Amino acid sequence: MSYDAPEVLISEDDIQSRVTELAAQISEDYADCNDLVLVGVLKGAFIFLADLSRQLKIPRLIEFIAVSSYGSSNVSSGAVRLVMDVRGNIEGKHLLIVEDIVDTGHTLKYLIGMLKSHRPASIKTCSLVRKAESAQVEVKIDYLGFDIGDEWVVGYGLDYAEQHRTLPYIGIIEPTE
Ligand code: PRP
Repeated sequence: MSYDAPEVLISEDDIQSRVTELAAQISEDYADCNDLVLVGVLKGAFIFLADLSRQLKIPRLIEFIAVSSYGSSNVSSGAVRLVMDVRGNIEGKHLLIVEDIVDTGHTLKYLIGMLKSHRPASIKTCSLVRKAESAQVEVKIDYLGFDIGDEWVVGYGLDYAEQHRTLPYIGIIEPTE
């Protein structure tokens, strides 16, 4: 089967440099914190979370959460459903939600509201990429890797129909592919 590699939008080197910068900033900001919990949003954040967490210079725990959007695969309906909650007790902890991409913002907004019910000490957000023009709801991203245009991106955790997640870079595809 032939395989046309997606066109590069953000190179592996650029991603790794930015991840290093973000990890340094987070390590500085949470330098006095002994209760940091990174909450990775499955599936897309698994590679970013792995790289980011290994570059932190501070104590941290890892949790995962899974959500799914109702509706068709490439258009967000705005309705978000919890598929898997965190496993550990996060009451009183400082949470950093780690996302691969923020598109409409519905998922992150839902997650912030949902995680508040666990009574954490604080919640901040981190996303590798954001589609700035696609925002439908306002949600603050405390640590952002890259702003991108309204393109369909894959790689570094991001998929199209479950394909291309393990590309080491972020590439662009045509969604009809
Ligand atoms: C992606 C991404 C975010 C969400 C962002 O997940 O990982 O969680 O979409 O979109 P929004 O800002 O419009 O809500 P997706 O639903 O593709 O699931 P996946 O991570 O399992 O691929």
